[in-house]
Amino acid sequence: MTTAAMALAISATAQTAIAACDDGEIVIKFSHVTNTDRHPKGIAATMLMERVNTEMDGTACMEVFPNSTLYNDDQVLEAMLQGDVQMAAPSLSKFEQFTKQFRIFDLPFMFKNIAAVDEFQNSETGQAMKASMTRRGLLGLEFWHNGMKQMSAKKPLISPADAKGMKFRVQNSDVLKAQMAAMGASPQPMAFSEVYGALQTGVVDGQENTWSNIYGQKFFEVQDGITETNHGIIDYMVVTSVDWWESLDADVRDQLATILNEVTTERNAVVGEVDDQARQAIVDAGSTIRELDEEQRQVWVDAMKPVWEEFVEDVGQENIDAAQAINA
Ligand code: LMR
Repeated sequence: MTTAAMALAISATAQTAIAACDDGEIVIKFSHVTNTDRHPKGIAATMLMERVNTEMDGTACMEVFPNSTLYNDDQVLEAMLQGDVQMAAPSLSKFEQFTKQFRIFDLPFMFKNIAAVDEFQNSETGQAMKASMTRRGLLGLEFWHNGMKQMSAKKPLISPADAKGMKFRVQNSDVLKAQMAAMGASPQPMAFSEVYGALQTGVVDGQENTWSNIYGQKFFEVQDGITETNHGIIDYMVVTSVDWWESLDADVRDQLATILNEVTTERNAVVGEVDDQARQAIVDAGSTIRELDEEQRQVWVDAMKPVWEEFVEDVGQENIDAAQAINA
């Protein structure tokens, strides 16, 4: 596709930035679930599309489908194995059904910040995790960052006890279900695209997510406020199918991998800024943000951290130790 045609396609379809691919180009459908502005994944996916469509014009053509317009995270990996979509970047929580090692990323208070997550992912263990699902037909290409999770509910949350008896939406992850249960709340697994409606209608009372997701999905509009717990993380793995990846000519695969790697490095380096902007946008919208002092935050740590014990065998004590050494 020419640059002019690409610009037209992007501006004409700001929400679903679908490129018009030329005959003979390899079509790469990239499906994701978030918004495209002020969002680490949305921005990175759009940048990847723009670079592929410029630098690989005539060879390959990427179409990005944001906002769950093509698939939600529960469907996309299955669709990938069927060959209906070639790339996605689900949160790491979505991979626990393929390999339980990934549960380490959901354990509350495991990583103190995204820099620690980055260091863990770049360790030998982290890098090996990208190839841990090839047996199941999926190949991880890169990790993309988002940020630390915060808690929100229809009532003020200062202590985890405030969540007692309330229903909290979680991603479909056993660790996250256990974490909510440890707070005395009732976990409700649900697709990301359904959360706003569920909060609005009272199907659930609260949720946990990053600033960019709370901003992008406007959860703050239907919650009492947001408590800055920084209790966990949301991060992503850009994934493809082994069959599709191996079907590419080596030079095409190398060029695509290089572009993806450069976009990853560029966007991961500035993820904190995107996070801060989303937080500020929520403040500007008039939502209440509750900060916790040391003592108040420790109550959340004490309530949630015992959850680790349930999952030590899945994630490996040595990996927990490695993550903790990075935090130190
Ligand atoms: C969620 O389901 O809350 C997140 O994984 C969505 C996302 O992709 O950030």
